[in-house]
Amino acid sequence: MTLHMKLIAGVALAAASVGLAGFGTVGAAQAQTKEVQMLHWWTSGGEAAALKVIKDALAKQGYGWKDVPVAGGGGNAAMTALKAMVAAGNYPTASQMLGYNVLDYAQAGKLADLTELAKSEGWDKAIPAPLQKFSVYDGKWVAVPVNVHSVNWVWLNKAVMDKIGGTEPKTFDDFLALLDKAKKAGVTPLALGGQDWQEAILFDDVVLSTGGPEFYKKAFNDLDEASLKSDTMKKSFDNLAKLKAYVDPNFSGRDWNLATAMVIKGDALVQVMGDWAKGEFHNANKAPGTDFLCYRFPGTDGSVAYNSDMFAMFDVGADRKDAQTALAKTTESKDVQAGFNIIKGSVPARTDVSDEGFDACGKKGIADLKKASADGNFFGSLAQGYGAPPAVTNAYLDVVDKFFNGQIKTSDEAVTQLARAIDDAK
Ligand code: GAL
Repeated sequence: MTLHMKLIAGVALAAASVGLAGFGTVGAAQAQTKEVQMLHWWTSGGEAAALKVIKDALAKQGYGWKDVPVAGGGGNAAMTALKAMVAAGNYPTASQMLGYNVLDYAQAGKLADLTELAKSEGWDKAIPAPLQKFSVYDGKWVAVPVNVHSVNWVWLNKAVMDKIGGTEPKTFDDFLALLDKAKKAGVTPLALGGQDWQEAILFDDVVLSTGGPEFYKKAFNDLDEASLKSDTMKKSFDNLAKLKAYVDPNFSGRDWNLATAMVIKGDALVQVMGDWAKGEFHNANKAPGTDFLCYRFPGTDGSVAYNSDMFAMFDVGADRKDAQTALAKTTESKDVQAGFNIIKGSVPARTDVSDEGFDACGKKGIADLKKASADGNFFGSLAQGYGAPPAVTNAYLDVVDKFFNGQIKTSDEAVTQLARAIDDAK
């Protein structure tokens, strides 16, 4: 299915459920619906396996699960489907969401108030402040953070590394040299899915590597115009162009998990992707150190450019509140936080979950987050909805996609268009 078809399927499904038995409308007053309706974009093998941890934990408590899946990382397609549902008055119990989207729905008065539950569960203490910035609106808890992902990772096939005699690349130039080695050995160096959000993740990492964390924050969190137009940004576009030489001819439109599969199978050396890629290795029974390697994107060690999946809780009718509360409480429980994130590839959203049971990449993710937070190097990824509001993210995705695919021809033109598009969008 193409992304477009999936989107249509998602919207059709959303529209079809409008006619369903009066969720949250009829006054069947206090008879409680024992089901959660959940919109999300976790459709790959690893993602589905992780989500099953939450589904199963709810099933044990007697709650059913009505799935509304809309594929597409970053959730643009899912957000379009959600918009249609909400406009029709058909609220899901909860929706997966990224950062600034949560704030938009909260501001529009569409989300529930979970503050009482948050207090009795002690979320204030367990969940770090940068996540609370997006799960608490106007003093009220409106969403539950499920995890912390980060985008500055590379995932490599170990056997291919051994074959080409590769070692961990520490700088961007090391990375190019490693990709060259793979090319000479006849292996696709860089597995990429040519969709705007995947290209933007690659660029997020290139900018962080080229300019460092302070530059990244100034440009992509503060949206500082001088930084957006700077020589460092130009150099970042030049570096992105260099990477294009290492993708295979069929990269256009490829889903991210198919790019991961290329690395899993040894058809490609490396994928640059958030740590949800680890979920695919895990799902294929591959072990870090033996079958694959995880490094921070060369030149970004010490920084964590994060996104966090939130379950935004909708302001559903009284008959659906019990199920919603169960979903929120279960998702945030320590057991589910460990079980889910071990499979998903992410770091728990709670800081009081032990790293026992996580593999080497998971342990590194947890340790990196701790250190980056302490050093002030934990900041939101622009590609993944935590750098700026959705309109700005979309403007960014568009410029990067046009540059990567040759519609914007030079780095000079790219920085001009980037600064202009972001200015128009904010
Ligand atoms: C991200 C999301 C991850 C992962 C990825 C690919 O936006 O935060 O959890 O699912 O998309 O689908």
